[in-house]
Amino acid sequence: MEELVRLCKARGFVFPSAEIYGGFRSTYDYGPLGVLMARNVKEAWWRSMVQMRREVVGLDAAILSSPKIWEASGHLKNFTDPLVDCRSCKQRWRADQLPTTEDGKLKCLNCASTDITEARPFNLMFKTFAGPVEDDGAVAYLRPETAQGHFVNFANVVQTEHLRPPFGTAQIGKSFRNEITPGNFVFRTREFEQMELEYFVPPADSPRWFEYWCKERFEWYLRFGIPREMLRLRHHSAEELSHYSAGTADVEFDFPWGWGELEGIANRTDFDLKAHAEASGQVLEYFDQTTGERYVPHVIEPAAGVARTMMAFLIAAYTTDEVAGEARTVLRLHPRIAPYQVAVLPLSKKDTLLPLSEEVLALLQPVTMCDYDVTRAIGRRYRRQDEIGTPLCVTIDFESLEDKAVTVRERDTTAQERVPIDRLVEVVQSRLAW
Ligand code: GAP
Repeated sequence: MEELVRLCKARGFVFPSAEIYGGFRSTYDYGPLGVLMARNVKEAWWRSMVQMRREVVGLDAAILSSPKIWEASGHLKNFTDPLVDCRSCKQRWRADQLPTTEDGKLKCLNCASTDITEARPFNLMFKTFAGPVEDDGAVAYLRPETAQGHFVNFANVVQTEHLRPPFGTAQIGKSFRNEITPGNFVFRTREFEQMELEYFVPPADSPRWFEYWCKERFEWYLRFGIPREMLRLRHHSAEELSHYSAGTADVEFDFPWGWGELEGIANRTDFDLKAHAEASGQVLEYFDQTTGERYVPHVIEPAAGVARTMMAFLIAAYTTDEVAGEARTVLRLHPRIAPYQVAVLPLSKKDTLLPLSEEVLALLQPVTMCDYDVTRAIGRRYRRQDEIGTPLCVTIDFESLEDKAVTVRERDTTAQERVPIDRLVEVVQSRLAW
């Protein structure tokens, strides 16, 4: 894990936020490669959840939101964690994250004292004020999940899209939670991105759709390269279920510190639509004109986090091996997830090679994301591309000026092949298996 955090910083995936001021409370900034990778994670999710389906549409609801939403959803009352203080070292903890002694007392993780306060509920919502006056009428909240934005727009979407259950709304966006103990790098932060689908189904069909989405989402991670043995689907026990849920399963990943949640799939029943209908006085139902049937759909919700997914992909892809007696680090990322798919590398900085190299770059840029690197010896440039997960390197050498061909090198095997420039786009596309 330390090695990966080092790589993330050194190669520009993730930087501690406000680092020049000593950092800021477990917040992180995404650097040039992190931005590319996060976009690819979101794009891969959007492609399989929206683009490849006819019954799912997109949505982008406001982050700054009315207290009425959170009152109706139950978040103002229930979205709490049990907070305790250590009287000895004054550290604050989430009670459910502390170990217990043999006689059942909570033990501080910092100083091992068992002099711990009673747990009190701590609401995780970030409260702010909309407008210049900081009074009760101006209170607003930063959303702690994107989900409620789907429910309050249910009638708008049904009316504009003429959708019939089963159908879904998909949304990717920032959420905010005032976590008591953020940590494990970007695993738990106070500001994070979620990718959520709310899938509205006829009530009697909800168990079947819950099973469908558990399977579908588990397989999505396998498809993008996470080995099966690093993944598991864990069903929640009755005591663990959220107040709105009739069944929840987590897709968990085997992180270096143990199993941790990547995504939750919940059967939210009709809880949310009914709660918002009651609080707003609006009708949030589906009316089937062909059968004359009227009902409140049940909701199946697969909800994933961008940073956790990125982290799992990075951990699963991180390998070291030996090439020609030299150790190398390789990120064996899926081509759709890797920050760059191709690196264009002129063998030398000499002016004679650069015009052709730029022509090659211009051929590939419309096809996919390319890096262009003219610095240092070619071997070191290959190592760098291996370390950031670039599946293909295209090298332009002096012979290229004569034979109008380039060398294509594969990250995983390091195998090289000479390819005519006029076939390059076709070869790159087939190697990346778009
Ligand atoms: N609408 C349901 C919901 O928000 P959740 O299990 O609380 O469910 C869904 O969150 C996903 O969002 C989690 O599986 C995780 O990937 C991500 N997530 C939640 N809290 C997070 C945090 N503090 N930091 C990073 N990711 C988080």
